[in-house]
Amino acid sequence: MFHVEDFSSHFGKNAAGIRAVNDVSLTIEAGETLGLVGESGSGKSTLGRMLLRLIEPDSGKVIFDGHDVLRASGSDLRRLRRDMQIIFQDPFGSLDPRMTVEQIVYEPIAIHGSEDGRSRREQASEVMRAVGLDASALRRYPHEFSGGQRQRIGIARALVLRPRFIVADEPVSALDVSVGAQIVNLLKQLQREFQLTYLFISHSMPIVRYLADRIAVMQRGELVEVGTTQQITTAPQHPYTRTLLAATPEMQE
Ligand SMILES: Nc1ncnc2c1ncn2[C@@H]1O[C@H](COP(=O)(O)OP(=O)(O)OP(=O)(O)O)[C@@H](O)[C@H]1O
Ligand SMILES: [Mg+2]
Repeated sequence: MFHVEDFSSHFGKNAAGIRAVNDVSLTIEAGETLGLVGESGSGKSTLGRMLLRLIEPDSGKVIFDGHDVLRASGSDLRRLRRDMQIIFQDPFGSLDPRMTVEQIVYEPIAIHGSEDGRSRREQASEVMRAVGLDASALRRYPHEFSGGQRQRIGIARALVLRPRFIVADEPVSALDVSVGAQIVNLLKQLQREFQLTYLFISHSMPIVRYLADRIAVMQRGELVEVGTTQQITTAPQHPYTRTLLAATPEMQE
């Protein structure tokens, strides 16, 4: 689905000439969950945002289903943008407090103008049901909801355009463990229901192991290792991957 070659960000160059994302090459298969791990500042969010062209890369090539993402413009780019969405870490900061839930969830359709003939209420209600919220929530405001419910609203918003690819950037790290586990299971269920492909960015090895088919490991802007979840968690090749696993007591069994 995604094929990325020699991807680099234009910022973050340090004394050693390493950018926030430096010459990353990567493939993401349709239908899979690729987990992306690495310490804070290693470039995970920058990589995720560059894939969606929320940050323009400095160089490299991105092919999404045969389309050259970095050269796309006009209607081509608009279609690609509908196909790719992001779920953010912070369910408190990422929803506009002055908008009703209905306005929030429907906004991507309003922006992209892809009405399908049904009413706004109908389209918004459908994704609310998919994320396990009652349609009556549409008339309320974000502050009336708990963190877990707000994250569901963020997911409904990401789903409303029926994307095929979603970057989930630490979607549960701001939540309590049990609430986070429910969101992780929801993402898993939605993946089957909507045939989604995920890039799942996380600090938590146990969550990534549970959710991901393959795991990519980033260190200081570079991809140091990619492998199946089984390979990475049981036979890591790179010293940095071993360090990450050693820092997670639950992973030593
Ligand atoms: N807009 C920007 N301009 C300049 N430098 C940036 C910008 N955004 C991020 N950086 C730098 O790029 C590097 C990678 O940041 P990034 O947020 O991608 O890391 P991360 O792996 O997502 O970290 P975390 O786990 O803390 O979310 C950091 O050194 C950061 O300071
Ligand atoms: Mg980040």
